Amino acid sequence: MCGIVAVTGYKKALPILINGLEKLEYRGYDSSGIAIINSETNSITCNKAEGKLKNLISNLNDQNIPGTVGIGHTRWATHGKPELKNAHPHTDSAGTIAVVQNGIIENFQDLKNKLEKEGISFNSDTDTEVIPHLIERELNTLSKLNLENNGSTLLVAVRNVISDLEGSYALAVLWAEAPTSLVVARRQAPLIIGLGEGEFICASDTPAIANFTNIILPMEDEEIALLTPLGIEIYDSNNERQYRNPVSLKVSEQIMDKMNFKHYMLKEIYDQPGTAKNWLENYLIKNLENGQYQIKYPFDTKFLKSIERIEIIACGTSKHAAMVGSFLLEQFAGIPANVFYASEFRYSPPPLLPNTLTIGVTQSGETADTIAALDMEIKRRSSIDDKKFKPNLIAITNRKESSIGRQIPNIIDICAGIEVGVAATKTFFAQLLSFYGLAIKFAHIKCSRSSNEIDKLITELLKLPPIIEDLLEKHNKSSEKLAHDFFNIKDVIFLGRGINYPIALEGALKLKEISYIHAAGYPAGEMKHGPIALLDKKVPVISIASSGEVFDKVISNAQEAKARNSYLIGIAPEINGTEIFDYLMQIPSSNEWISPLLNIIPLQLLSYHIAAHRGLDVDQPRNLAKSVTVE
Ligand code: M6R
Repeated sequence: MCGIVAVTGYKKALPILINGLEKLEYRGYDSSGIAIINSETNSITCNKAEGKLKNLISNLNDQNIPGTVGIGHTRWATHGKPELKNAHPHTDSAGTIAVVQNGIIENFQDLKNKLEKEGISFNSDTDTEVIPHLIERELNTLSKLNLENNGSTLLVAVRNVISDLEGSYALAVLWAEAPTSLVVARRQAPLIIGLGEGEFICASDTPAIANFTNIILPMEDEEIALLTPLGIEIYDSNNERQYRNPVSLKVSEQIMDKMNFKHYMLKEIYDQPGTAKNWLENYLIKNLENGQYQIKYPFDTKFLKSIERIEIIACGTSKHAAMVGSFLLEQFAGIPANVFYASEFRYSPPPLLPNTLTIGVTQSGETADTIAALDMEIKRRSSIDDKKFKPNLIAITNRKESSIGRQIPNIIDICAGIEVGVAATKTFFAQLLSFYGLAIKFAHIKCSRSSNEIDKLITELLKLPPIIEDLLEKHNKSSEKLAHDFFNIKDVIFLGRGINYPIALEGALKLKEISYIHAAGYPAGEMKHGPIALLDKKVPVISIASSGEVFDKVISNAQEAKARNSYLIGIAPEINGTEIFDYLMQIPSSNEWISPLLNIIPLQLLSYHIAAHRGLDVDQPRNLAKSVTVE
């Protein structure tokens, strides 16, 4: 959601903060700000701007703020509109304490009311602003105990304050009286400390750290830390000092390079042949004795034998990948599987059933709804004294070091490399692949498919990289041309059936997210039950018609749209029946199981080109953020 970066050391803080914020802007871009302890005046210099980070940079243009300790923030608005007054950092009344926060302080209104009664006036509508005022009050109390004005005292004050906060947060605090110290804390929102030589940087995500160091220490939930150039002290929620070894950042977590592409999203769409290759090399392993391929996930999969049903929890695009996954697990591998919106699961979970596998899917590994739903499921299963009900868990993520990576022991790292564009593309593709892997594994374990059928699917997967390359080659220009004709439309309907119904949903989500055109995906057979009322010549219909089980049905449903004058775009192979389409985005004929992996490519390209043609900020669409760490 919001991005936080904080630094203490010997180098000038301003460029480090700006560089960090540039790398975190995908987390929110409603406003940004920095606060630095000015080493000449020993006071805090704050600078903020509404809108994109470039506005802050232009504000700061001629300023040379001396100081080596500072905090920065890029905001995704929750409490209070995206206006200057709500931009972080927020300060206490005297301007000697500055705070940046990512999360939601659920009891802020009660706290604010109390502070207002004590005579404190507020300058913003945010939940965050209570924090510097509470810290100020706490420091005043501590000063009566004759504690020194230093980082340790700030640490005590922040610890006392966060014990009164409800909700989830990651925060960083500066105090002018402790000019080399930084205090950072987290609860259910990510924070990672980067270890430089005699300097430390703390941020919500690794890209902000990568230019600085590749040695990191992810903070655990409910931890608080004091950072000075001399070292770091980390404490858990029981105030026990924590000692653990740092880890190295993976190379893929360090690279953010648009290369020659106009937008990250287009580059990431083009990354997909490489994503497929990488995934296949990592997880599809040839048995040298019998020459057969096997799926090898990096954890002991013996426990899968006892699994009788699967629940999958996810949000947004990850949920669409989960829906394809559930189709494969049920229809290919024969295991009952259900998909849940994480935000719904949490408050209306299904009754507990034995021998269930719970799969969490999240590219960022930080989505609050998903993490909380999984947490709830782990707790309710662990509280039952019957091993049939114990939690069996797998996470599918692109960020092994994230919150889900710490929450769940069995991780399928989708290995897609960092995805910067807010609209998920290559991570969706790699999530799909991970479900193909699971379906193959289950089909094998449960003997629900013959070796021949399994081998056939594996052979199709192995052929993917060049096929995806060809699809990109074929459809980039054609979708750019199509976008030229369609960039001004108001509504689009996406239809798909069976394994491609989630692809229709994902096509519609991609278009909505980045072009702001209203789009809706439906199971093709459902259109006649209502959505057909929307159709006329101004509403194009994009129909996914892969050869196989439901091809004829999808074509009949497309006929129904044609009869209502809709312009029909087909995502289909060039075979009998597809002449009905006014425009065919041709897909090579393939095995139906594999078709989602092909059909998604032209849909991603079309959304991209429509949004780019409309002159929109494709990589940072309005109101969105790459990782949604609030409920
Ligand atoms: O990080 P996650 O996969 O958990 O994110 C879930 C959704 O927020 C995400 O897929 C969202 O829908 C994207 N903007 C999709 O492009």
